[in-house]
Amino acid sequence: MNEQQAAAFHMADIRDKRPTRRRAVAVGEFHPGTEAFQTIIERRLPKGDALVMAEIAGLQGAKMASQLMPLCHPISLELVRVRCVPVVERHVIRVYCECALEARTGVEMEALAGVNAALLTLYDLTKPVQPALTISGVRLLFKEGGKKGLWIHPEGMDDAEREHYRPRDLARLDGVACAVLTLSDRASAGDYEDRSGPELVAGLKRLGAELTHVEVLPDGLDPLAERLRALAAKGVRLCLCTGGTGLGPRDVTPEALRMVADRQVEGLAEMLRSESAKHTPLAWLSRAEVVQVGGMLVFALPGSPRAARQCMDILAPLLAHALAMMDGRPHA
Ligand code: MTE
Repeated sequence: MNEQQAAAFHMADIRDKRPTRRRAVAVGEFHPGTEAFQTIIERRLPKGDALVMAEIAGLQGAKMASQLMPLCHPISLELVRVRCVPVVERHVIRVYCECALEARTGVEMEALAGVNAALLTLYDLTKPVQPALTISGVRLLFKEGGKKGLWIHPEGMDDAEREHYRPRDLARLDGVACAVLTLSDRASAGDYEDRSGPELVAGLKRLGAELTHVEVLPDGLDPLAERLRALAAKGVRLCLCTGGTGLGPRDVTPEALRMVADRQVEGLAEMLRSESAKHTPLAWLSRAEVVQVGGMLVFALPGSPRAARQCMDILAPLLAHALAMMDGRPHA
């Protein structure tokens, strides 16, 4: 029995996760009834201004999440904003807490802790005038960042919430013609099942891309160089190659890309290595390469399925913008 199985609970081990920019917004409602609602919004409660006090409590609550919930990691919040919005038609106070940071783990528990602290403070200040109080609908409104991008609660967001928080999803590749090429002698000979190519295919499909060519090629300069020229000529816009970026004698994928390159995109290759190094220091052993071949952007990514998946997550936020730039189109 290992250490984790022996314990009935454990804090997640996030050491190998890559820090990304994350944001979460939580919401909840306070129901004070018609009369107390009026007293709250006119700021006439005996203990003081509940709306201001609740916003302060929300800030404190968000900061205390890791002390209140034992398995929450202590994280360095970079933004906390709390809003108490009176909804006059329903006589409720709707409370929002927005938290953001760059980290290895999400920030939703902080947002939820902030909302709860604000709601309980509204309760505390209102109870002298009205003991029949209800707190309801505490939930995550949305979260963004991390591997999965944007998640919105199935109950959705109204227009005012969307306008205020402007949740951002990954830029999509709807209908963009894409190719995935796996470079591996063993996989092309059928001795080994290719699992890296399917990782890239799945990642591209999630963004809406159209996979026009998915192929396994042997390592080697000429077959790949030839194939890249042909794919560019057929109008493929994005080609992700996996494998052959290491230091072995048969690892020649970067050289093949450079043979057919109109331009090299050094920054993206450096970004792939430095972001990957946040997962594993072995990432520096990959000679990842990025080039433009006519209207096609080509990536040489490392060969393991895990590396392919990680690189796909690193690239996903940038691909649509890179292609728009190549077309001379304005980009966000
Ligand atoms: N990059 C990421 N993101 N994740 C990884 O696990 N593995 C590295 C590196 N890049 C890795 C990574 C390893 S172990 C090697 S040997 C090199 O990629 C080269 O891999 P390749 O020869 O299969 O292209």
